[in-house]
Amino acid sequence: MYDIIHKKRDGGQLNKQEITYVIKGFTDGTIPDYQMSAMAMAIYFQGMTAEETAELTLAMAQSGDMMDLSAIKGNKVDKHSTGGVGDTTTLVLLPLVASVGVPVAKLSGRGLGHTGGTIDKLEAIPGFGIDMPEEQFVKNVNEYGCALIGQTGSVAPADKKLYALRDVTATVDTIPLIASSIMSKKIASGADSIVLDVKTGDGAFMKTLDGSFELAKAMVDIGTNVGRNTIGVISGMEQPLGYAIGNALEVQEAIDTLRGQGPEDLAELCLVLGSYMLVATNHAQTAEEALQMLTDSLQSGKALETFRRFIEAQGGNPAVVDDPALLPQAGRQVPVTLGRAGYVAEIHAEEVGTCAMLLGAGRETKESEVDLAVGIVLHKKAGDAVAANEPIATLHVNDESRLREVISRLQAAYVLSDEPTAAPPLIYGVVT
Ligand code: URA
Ligand code: CA
Repeated sequence: MYDIIHKKRDGGQLNKQEITYVIKGFTDGTIPDYQMSAMAMAIYFQGMTAEETAELTLAMAQSGDMMDLSAIKGNKVDKHSTGGVGDTTTLVLLPLVASVGVPVAKLSGRGLGHTGGTIDKLEAIPGFGIDMPEEQFVKNVNEYGCALIGQTGSVAPADKKLYALRDVTATVDTIPLIASSIMSKKIASGADSIVLDVKTGDGAFMKTLDGSFELAKAMVDIGTNVGRNTIGVISGMEQPLGYAIGNALEVQEAIDTLRGQGPEDLAELCLVLGSYMLVATNHAQTAEEALQMLTDSLQSGKALETFRRFIEAQGGNPAVVDDPALLPQAGRQVPVTLGRAGYVAEIHAEEVGTCAMLLGAGRETKESEVDLAVGIVLHKKAGDAVAANEPIATLHVNDESRLREVISRLQAAYVLSDEPTAAPPLIYGVVT
């Protein structure tokens, strides 16, 4: 290990054998944390080539269980978002893409901090469960087109251990380690094709556009290197996506979107990501052709019907689709105004995510309990005009202990301009 650290410290390129040795030893504990910390710092300063990054990713993916999805017919696609605020896309995309015949086998996680998790959101549907044996998961994808289970600790344990170490050694924010971390879990999850939604802007992990493109390219290179069709879409997270932030509220928003009545930005991003999911799996030749297929499915009600069947297959009550009152409801709704007029220039997404978390919609620590009913519904987004006493948002509240703090932080998250403003771009580019 000393020699390998030395080599990387001096800018050398590590080979497959060396990388496998490091990851095996670190996972089984024979390589101590202090040596792995030095290695992470050497990578931070010296970087890694595309080949090294791909080998690191594979070694981490193979450090635990590799899902075998070969029993699922067809080219399986997975979609991953680098994490946003109010990002309701997965809920829409699962049924939407499945409804045109592309199998979606999804492993998801729970939310932490200012970003929500897909599992928490879906659990707002009464009865909905994510625990099932792998055979049932495979069977459900074959039968209903999509299924979702929780990511277990046995997926890429090397990454779990390394991420914790990076967290305390100031080595999180470096492209080869971020890219390999995300992709190791995707590759272990067994999908043939991967579409990445790389967020950029205030509410995103990557705040700069250059950094987001670089991360997308690194992940697409990894995917290509290990034989998975991978496409990266760079999308804006300068403000929350859609209007709803919070678990049951986002389920409602997803249903609206599947009905063709969702927020414009959310609907558009779902159609773009969905189109590339069809292209990546060769279900469509071009993004335009794919877009037409998805639009048809939305208009015919097929996508919504697929959502009903998916909910039922996971033990949930499909009647929520037609009667949203069956979703958990917060005790009180509190409108928030700004007290002055103007045009919305910006909405600090991360701050809005934190406000939703403080209301109980997200977790402050891994142990926090989530209140599925609470959250925020925005009424004004960037580019909108707002009158002095017009509500910019409605808080859905149960526990009022931090209500005052949330109101003032949400007000501060809104940046008003005296001049008319424009909404920020939603899609910045595609990396293939
Ligand atoms: N998300 C991950 O899973 N890994 C990283 O390194 C960063 C974000
Ligand atoms: Ca949303």
